[in-house]
Amino acid sequence: MKVLLFGATGFTGKAVLPELLAKNHKVTALVRSKERVLIKHPNLQIIEGDVLDDVQIHQAMEGQEAVINCMGKNKGSANNLISGLTKKIISAMEEEQVKRLIALSNVGAGDSYETQPFVFRVILLPTILRWLKLLIEDKNIMEPLIKKSNLNWTVLRFPKISEKPSQKRILISQDGKGLSFSISLKDCAEFIVSQLTDKSLWYKTPSISN
Ligand SMILES: NC(=O)c1ccc[n+]([C@@H]2O[C@H](COP(=O)([O-])OP(=O)(O)OC[C@H]3O[C@@H](n4cnc5c(N)ncnc54)[C@H](OP(=O)(O)O)[C@@H]3O)[C@@H](O)[C@H]2O)c1
Repeated sequence: MKVLLFGATGFTGKAVLPELLAKNHKVTALVRSKERVLIKHPNLQIIEGDVLDDVQIHQAMEGQEAVINCMGKNKGSANNLISGLTKKIISAMEEEQVKRLIALSNVGAGDSYETQPFVFRVILLPTILRWLKLLIEDKNIMEPLIKKSNLNWTVLRFPKISEKPSQKRILISQDGKGLSFSISLKDCAEFIVSQLTDKSLWYKTPSISN
């Protein structure tokens, strides 16, 4: 499948990229710094530019079959970075008739908030996890934008993505209950890529952990 990947130079995107290539997908990565992509592969096209520019997003979107958004907020990025980019991605996808969108969100976003432990919601999020609260607030803007689009979308809500080895056990929870606190980067990347060829989570916002 022809896949446009956002965030290929980030923590998750760097792991998703080799998984995509290993599964023989043809990948276009739109990045702001080409040197940060360390992989060279005949099925990888790297476009360097302003990732947030509508024209460049449209150009990169031409001829694609799916989009995976692994963009994350760096220090200094706007609080609405992901929802703002998502709006641009949806508009470009709808115009270029690219139907499949896989977007990353966080456990605690949308209806998964209520099912999280009291300590997490009431004590940790407003204090030491305030940075996460800001990310979740942006995802709470992003998710409804995706839901009301005409795309074949899946929003994957992850807990902490860790560098622990693959656990080979994936929990999928539709309401955010019964999860563990993390998922290994390898399992997370494999799961994201598996969604390109799996329709079972279309139009859903599952939370995924080990
Ligand atoms: N990491 C986790 O534990 C975790 C857990 C749950 C959910 N998530 C979600 O998964 C997604 C990816 O997270 P991540 O931790 O992999 O992200 P990350 O490492 O912070 O990824 C940052 C990516 O976004 C790009 N980026 C950041 N700010 C930018 C800007 N202003 N303009 C252009 N590009 C910009 C970076 O490009 P440069 O390389 O050029 O800076 C990089 O490719 C996010 O939505 C995050 O909330 C992550």
